[in-house]
Amino acid sequence: MNQAAQPAVYNPVARALHWSIFLLIAAEFGLAWLMPDVRRGTQPVGLIAWHIGVGTSILALMVLRLLWRGATGAPALLPGPTWQQHLAKLVHVVLYVGFLLLPVLGWINASSRGWTVHLAGLVGLPALAPTGAGWAHEMGDVHQVVAYVLLGAIGLHVAGALFHAVIERDDTLRRMWPRRG
Ligand code: HEM
Ligand code: HEM
Repeated sequence: MNQAAQPAVYNPVARALHWSIFLLIAAEFGLAWLMPDVRRGTQPVGLIAWHIGVGTSILALMVLRLLWRGATGAPALLPGPTWQQHLAKLVHVVLYVGFLLLPVLGWINASSRGWTVHLAGLVGLPALAPTGAGWAHEMGDVHQVVAYVLLGAIGLHVAGALFHAVIERDDTLRRMWPRRG
């Protein structure tokens, strides 16, 4: 997309997706911490079923969000020091890739346990690994590590947003803020 055609603010759909995914991710960490430990023979019921239902919804919304971004574009970063712009872009890429990868890792682990994964708890999805596959079981640990790395990336991202809102007092947060229009 050329510079002239670039919008000044995130469009309403992009903003709605950003904040609904944020709420779902916050809920998803809460569920991960509250749900029982997943062991051999654990069944995907109760809070674990919720973790899977919310996690697969995040995956679906992330795919929609990337397609929407590809179709409608995003505003260029506001002017600022080059290192800050590079860091902001890097963190955005880490968040996009990370929140596509993380649910898939959980899904692979769930498949190795012989669980059927349902999108939003409703629509049955295919298994991504055979039941009992060792490599797929290991993805449970990778899932956990990636989740905490992403929590760090969110911390950096929020710190950046607050820096712009409170110290720089520029339009960065305003153009992503949910509002009419
Ligand atoms: C953005 C989405 C997700 C986030 C943020 C997330 C986060 C987490 C976290 C933090 C844990 C570790 C909990 C602990 O410390 O004990 C965990 C465990 C787990 N999650 Fe997720 N998760 C997501 C999506 C999913 C999905 C889509 C599935 C399955 C389809 C899933 C299945 C699991 C399973 C099976 C475990 C236990 C893994 C094990 O102990 O081997 N997660 N998740
Ligand atoms: C789960 C937590 C979050 C994730 C995964 C996330 C992810 C993202 C991503 C991927 C972008 C880039 C959008 C694009 O260009 O297509 C973005 C932009 C943005 N996010 Fe977040 N975000 C989260 C939470 C937050 C929070 C809590 C705030 C505010 C305190 C925030 C403020 C912003 C702002 C202001 C932008 C626009 C940046 C700019 O214009 O340069 N985000 N977010």
